[in-house]
Amino acid sequence: MRRKLVVGNWKMNGSLAQLSELGPIAAAARKSPGVDVAICPPFTLIAPARARASGMPIGGQDCHGKESGAHTGCVSAAMLKDAGARLVIVGHSERRAEQCESDKAVRSKAEAALKQGLQTILCVGESDKEREAGRAVTVVAAQLQGSLPQTAEGEGELVIAYEPIWAIGTGKVATPDDVAEMHAAIRAELKQLLAHRGATVRILYGGSVKGDNAAELFAVPDVDGALVGGASLTAAQFVPIVEAAGRG
Ligand code: PGA
Repeated sequence: MRRKLVVGNWKMNGSLAQLSELGPIAAAARKSPGVDVAICPPFTLIAPARARASGMPIGGQDCHGKESGAHTGCVSAAMLKDAGARLVIVGHSERRAEQCESDKAVRSKAEAALKQGLQTILCVGESDKEREAGRAVTVVAAQLQGSLPQTAEGEGELVIAYEPIWAIGTGKVATPDDVAEMHAAIRAELKQLLAHRGATVRILYGGSVKGDNAAELFAVPDVDGALVGGASLTAAQFVPIVEAAGRG
């Protein structure tokens, strides 16, 4: 049995004042002991968020593939760990697009994060054009082949997040049938690439997950949780998603 995992991705949002949302989120997480809950705020808020999160894991939204060096503006997995982060998101489609991150770059980030023992959420997902052309499964399989870590080094847990780009921040959610098809395809690919370890990797769905659609998504086979953007910014919107995972 894979435990449900619900992760909030605050993206480039949040402030010290907004960390007051973490108290009620952490309280809801404690009331759902069968669910793992974490929040990934911007880098600047990781350390103060930890102090406010009553033990709930806090993570980063990216890391560099190298441990240190002349990489202005970047943050390494070792630095995240030093700041108290327990997880990191890598390969989010916004970074793949805006920062031109290749599969190869994403792989090196994931490998660096796992080496530091961080839970590593590797994101994949197709565009609307790719889906309309009937290529969604092929595109996602290619992303996994190109960006999945090749080493099992370190003690970090690898997690996959399937996030169709057209569903992110749009209010459009993939249908349960589409999600089921893709998660089954991802599971098959993971078994192919990671052998027996492929069965234990958690696969999250992301893209406009809200309190009113979460239960339906969590009921889909091979959906092991959610990566939540907009609805993770307030406890009022995020807690119902955590509760749905606890029931599911
Ligand atoms: P959204 O974002 O929930 O706002 O659609 C999801 C994500 O990008 O992780």
